[in-house]
Amino acid sequence: MADEAAKPWVLCDGGAGFIGSHTVLELVNAGFQVLVADNLVNSSEEALRRVGELTGKPEAIEFVRADMRDAAAVSALFERHPISAVIHFAALKAVGESVSKPLDYYENNLGSLFNVLRAMKTHGCRRIIFSSSATVYGSAVPPFTEESLVGVGITNPYGWTKFMAEQILRDAALADPELGVVLLRYFNPVGAHESGRIGEDPQGMPNNLMPYVLQVAVGRRPHLTVHGGDYATPDGTALRDYIHVVDLAKGHVAALQWIERQTEPGCCETFNLGTGTSTSVLDVVRGVERASGRPVPYVVGPRRPGDLETCFAKVDKAERVLGWKAERDLDAMCADGWRWQMLNPMGFHAAKEAEEAGGGGGEGK
Ligand code: NAD
Ligand code: WQD
Repeated sequence: MADEAAKPWVLCDGGAGFIGSHTVLELVNAGFQVLVADNLVNSSEEALRRVGELTGKPEAIEFVRADMRDAAAVSALFERHPISAVIHFAALKAVGESVSKPLDYYENNLGSLFNVLRAMKTHGCRRIIFSSSATVYGSAVPPFTEESLVGVGITNPYGWTKFMAEQILRDAALADPELGVVLLRYFNPVGAHESGRIGEDPQGMPNNLMPYVLQVAVGRRPHLTVHGGDYATPDGTALRDYIHVVDLAKGHVAALQWIERQTEPGCCETFNLGTGTSTSVLDVVRGVERASGRPVPYVVGPRRPGDLETCFAKVDKAERVLGWKAERDLDAMCADGWRWQMLNPMGFHAAKEAEEAGGGGGEGK
């Protein structure tokens, strides 16, 4: 019991979501206790229940339904436990929606960050890891290194919230020599936990490629529209750096352990989390066909406005400094994504409904 009490608590806000839930699992497996705060605007508590099951340590996860825009609610989180670090996932992330609702995105994504930073200061919590994105590189020339120019060619308010949040965190670290900040720039997170119990659960029409392709393979949608077949790439479709969400989750554990090892607390370090390889839209289609044994019909349409031709990372800094490297390849991403999709064709929604109706687990065949 004394041992349990000594374990550090990490606050994961937005921790019920896709990347958050996988990270909570890896944190618990690495011996942390995790306080998850989420308003469930794009997620389900069911994900955390399953993480508890998968780790065999449900007592290491505490969930609070809270909106990070609510300063009092955020401050109250720090009164529950001594929090050694925050991993700040909470954000709205739909690029297209951010264009039509810019104020919602700026308010949610930046307001949440202000509340977290203020509450951290008040309660003496000095470490924060931030979910940033390759989107901050805008139209820089790939492969992107952490030193590449950022902010030129960002095409949407979502991307600007990440760019601005990075700057806010850099300035906060400069002003406060006790504050340790890690900015993690994720490339294209895909896949799911190998158990098939947790995964990405988009509401409505998926915005991203992999969940869309998986929904075509499972029969929820008739075909994929490939956005552009005339790029100057080997097969004419756009190239991205897809990263398995479990590798990404482990990257957070590595970042947390790294920042906890720093004897000089004040810092602000940026890391790309990707694989360093570029994969085309049609490579993803073929990968899901191999994993599922089913055809993925597609039509080639026009380019999507704002899309880059090529986006991939240079990842040696994360390997050199954090000792972390992505290990899972495209086939693993597709196989694990497919298992999740097949076992949960309607995501967590069906499981929730079945439970509410007293019908048990609710997974598909
Ligand atoms: P997600 O939508 O699955 O997770 C975000 C979580 O934050 C959700 O559970 C949502 O309910 C919660 N949330 C949003 N606003 C909140 C608020 N005001 N208060 C409390 N909870 C709130 O998305 P994800 O893919 O897991 O993304 C996690 C983070 O990583 C986000 O910051 C996102 O911008 C960033 N990111 C995602 C990708 C990607 O492609 N998935 C790429 C780069 C960066
Ligand atoms: C990948 C490729 C599409 C859907 C986005 C955000 C970025 C980051 C990750 C959060 C592109 C093509 C897609 C479809 C297609 N998120 N595609 N048909 O655009 O690289 O990045 O998610 O930070 O900010 O912009 O990812 O999965 O949407 O697209 O052909 O139905 O698949 O055109 O080339 P993207 P994506």
